[in-house]
Order: sequence, then structure tokens, then C-alpha cells
Amino acid sequence: MRKYRKQEHIENYLRATYQGDPLFKDVFIEHYSMPDFAYDDIDTGMTFMGKDIAFPLMINAITGGTDFAETINRNLAQLAKDFKIPMAVGSQTIAIEDDDAIESFAVVREIIGPQGLVFANINGLLGLEEAKKAVDMIGADALQIHLNPGQELIMEEGDRDFRSIRKNIRDIVQGLDLPVIVKEVGFGMSPKVIQDLYDLGVRTIDLAGFGGTNFFEVENLRYPEEDFSELFNWGNPTALCLLWAREMKKDDLTLVGSGGIRGAEDCLKALALGADICAMSGELLNYLIHGGYDYAAEFLSQLMHKMKILMMLTNCKKIQDIHDLSFSIKGDLKDLYEGRQ
Ligand code: FNR
Repeated sequence: MRKYRKQEHIENYLRATYQGDPLFKDVFIEHYSMPDFAYDDIDTGMTFMGKDIAFPLMINAITGGTDFAETINRNLAQLAKDFKIPMAVGSQTIAIEDDDAIESFAVVREIIGPQGLVFANINGLLGLEEAKKAVDMIGADALQIHLNPGQELIMEEGDRDFRSIRKNIRDIVQGLDLPVIVKEVGFGMSPKVIQDLYDLGVRTIDLAGFGGTNFFEVENLRYPEEDFSELFNWGNPTALCLLWAREMKKDDLTLVGSGGIRGAEDCLKALALGADICAMSGELLNYLIHGGYDYAAEFLSQLMHKMKILMMLTNCKKIQDIHDLSFSIKGDLKDLYEGRQ
């Protein structure tokens, strides 16, 4: 059942047509006409989770557990290695329950090697023991815990009782000797959830906001006899989540800006709004499935080139300069941010 579902998620993601808006279009950053350095001097490198990476983008959790998923993971891992960026594997529950599924995840570390950053992934209903198994399975540098009540609730076989999540997160943060990243899956984090996670000891939050992959639609495509389309607009847009998180940002809280990141401009804006790093799932998966490794690699190298162009046009020689950029907000983003009571 779980294996079949994994396959359907990929297929349905590719069939999905609804386009959400992460509201990056409502962020304005000024053009700067007098950059005072050369293109070749631009440094997109940074340190994340104690390791050097070449660019502030990670490949976010997608899959694992089937032969098809293993092929995808092999390609994603090769991309992560070649572009020197982090990668998270998809939910490992399937491999915690069935040893046959382990290789489809373990292959990611095998390809990336010991130098790269690889993140394990479980859902918030699993405890410390399962967290350790997931981490050991791939020699992970950190563990992602995903919060996906929206997705579970429209899945016929999905979970209905989320009471153990806080305890699980606290136990894992205290008992695991590695950083813990708590993430959404495309519905975004509210100010209260960000604060609660911080209070539970979580120091890296992946906002995974609305505007990209839409799990209401992806799941609904599995049950065509039911119509959940009226829910497809539900969620906290990514740019709004970033503004909320920025407002309460503590110095020791690392933010991953994700959900609807489709290109260089989204990345630049997410970093300017306060993300320490961006993450992408759906858009990269699209390129990979439609054109294989080469097509996805070309997409990433174009994205990185465009990012450098934008860095030059905002006078940012290094990633830290992007965090210091000023910006304006307008339209829906401004209304939603300023209208909050
Ligand atoms: C996902 N995502 C996901 N997240 C997670 O924590 N564990 C998982 O197993 C999966 N599985 C998965 C499958 C597929 C096909 C997609 C497209 C996505 C969610 C993903 O990590 C991310 O949070 C969201 O997709 C939002 O980012 P994008 O896709 O808008 O860049």
C-alpha cells in the first residue's frame, strides 16, 4: 500500500495543474546599476549544518522505498553531489517497516559520500527509536520531521490522531545527537507553530509554505470520485511565513525558505526576507522526470547563473549581503501581513 502510494505521489504531482502563489511576486527589491565587483568574484558558498556548500539551496524531501523512487534518489543525489548542495530523502517510514526498502534511501549517502549533507526524514508521529533508525540508515547529518496534518486528513488511510507530535519532537530534540529540522509539506508554518517549535527546542524550521506543491490536489488525484478542490487555496504562503518568522527571529533559529521556490528570483527574495537557505522539491522533480539528470542539471546551473546575475544587480558579492538587502512588500502579501489581528 505504502509503496503504491509513493508511486502515485510522483505521478500525481506531475498531473497536478493547480498553481498556488507563494506571494514572492509581492516582494520588491531595488535594482542597483553600479555593482562594484566582477561577476567572477561573486561567492555563493556558505556553511550549513557545519559543512561547506556551494549554493544556498537544498533538494528537499521527495521519495524513497520503491525501485522507481531509488532511480529518482540516485539522480537527485548525483545532482546534490555535483552542485555541492544538501539533500533530504523522502519519508523513511517505509524502510523502517521493511528492510527491502532501505537501499533506495541508503544509495543517497553512497553517492553523495561523507563530505556532503544528507538529511533523514520521518513524520511527527514517530518517536526517538524510529528517528535513530532513520538517521543510521543513511548516516544523516540532520533529521527532518515533517508535519503534514492536511495531507493525512484527506488521505483515506491517513492518520487522524496527532496528539503525540509535541512529545515526539521534544524527545527527539533531546535524545538525538544531531540537529533536528521540523518542516511542513506545503501548507506553511504559522507564527504560533514557529514559536511552539522553538519552545520545544527546535532550532531549524523549514517553513514549506503554500504556493508550490499542493498536497490537497496531489492526494485528491488518488481519489477522483471525491472533490476536495475547494480546499486547494488553503495554506500560509511562503513569503508570508518568512515575514512572520523574521518578526520573531531569534539569533539561534535557522530558517529554511521553501514551498513554491521555482527559480533564482524566488531564492533571492526568500533569502532577503530572512531565510538562511532555500529548498526545492517539486520544480526540480519536474525537470528530472521530464528530461533526466542532464535536464535537471541544466536547470540548476541556469538557476545558479541567474542568481549571480541578480546578486550583481543588487550589489551582493556574497550570500550574507542578500540577507542585508532592504525590500518592500505590496498587494496580498502586505494585506495579509499588516492585516493580522
Ligand atoms: C514531497 N514532500 C515530502 N516532504 C516530506 O517531508 N517527506 C516526504 O516524503 C515528502 N514527499 C514528497 C513527494 C513529492 C512527490 C513531492 C513533490 C513533495 C514535500 C516537499 O519536501 C516540500 O516540503 C513541498 O513539496 C513544498 O516544496 P515545493 O515542492 O513547492 O518546492
